[in-house]
Amino acid sequence: MKTLILYASTYGYTQECAAKLSNDLLGDVLLVNINADPVPPLEEYDTVLIGGSIYMGQIQKKIKEYCLANADSLKKKNLGFFISCGSAENFDENIKNSFPEALINAALSIENFGGEFRIDKMKLSHKLIMKMVAKATEKDNKPPAKPMPENIKKMAQTINHLNV
Ligand SMILES: Cc1cc2nc3c(=O)[nH]c(=O)nc-3n(C[C@H](O)[C@H](O)[C@H](O)COP(=O)(O)O)c2cc1C
Repeated sequence: MKTLILYASTYGYTQECAAKLSNDLLGDVLLVNINADPVPPLEEYDTVLIGGSIYMGQIQKKIKEYCLANADSLKKKNLGFFISCGSAENFDENIKNSFPEALINAALSIENFGGEFRIDKMKLSHKLIMKMVAKATEKDNKPPAKPMPENIKKMAQTINHLNV
């Protein structure tokens, strides 16, 4: 079985998650960064897993646009979606905003890979937003961003089961 993992990542967290997912999957896996690599033709793949990270409630535009433009072909694949985000609270809403409804309904696996705030790498405007978010999070007693590697394993297990 051939699997394509297509992702976008702004500060590297989702990139690391996508690499972990690729290591956990059986069979032939191609890892493609939509911002750096050419996206291969979908015909070659049985399974397509697509994800990115959430910024102000939105996934990276290129991922959103790719899914919309290729919805008909994607619908015929074993499909999975993942997002990285700072808060699990708005997971359903973030998924709805990121991917076409018909594809969400067709997906075999949809997972939250958690998140990390990589302040050192952030551009200034993102650092300032983070300062405000950190204050609000503390005030509301909300849990800070945390990685969820268990959900990477979960997606890999679901996809690997298709092979058995
Ligand atoms: C400026 C900024 C805005 C963000 N907005 C959201 C948001 O609306 N919802 C959320 O759950 N996480 C938000 N996050 C958290 C990111 O989704 C999280 O840090 C993620 O791990 C980033 O992954 P990446 O390094 O692959 O881009 C935001 C982070 C930054 C820096």
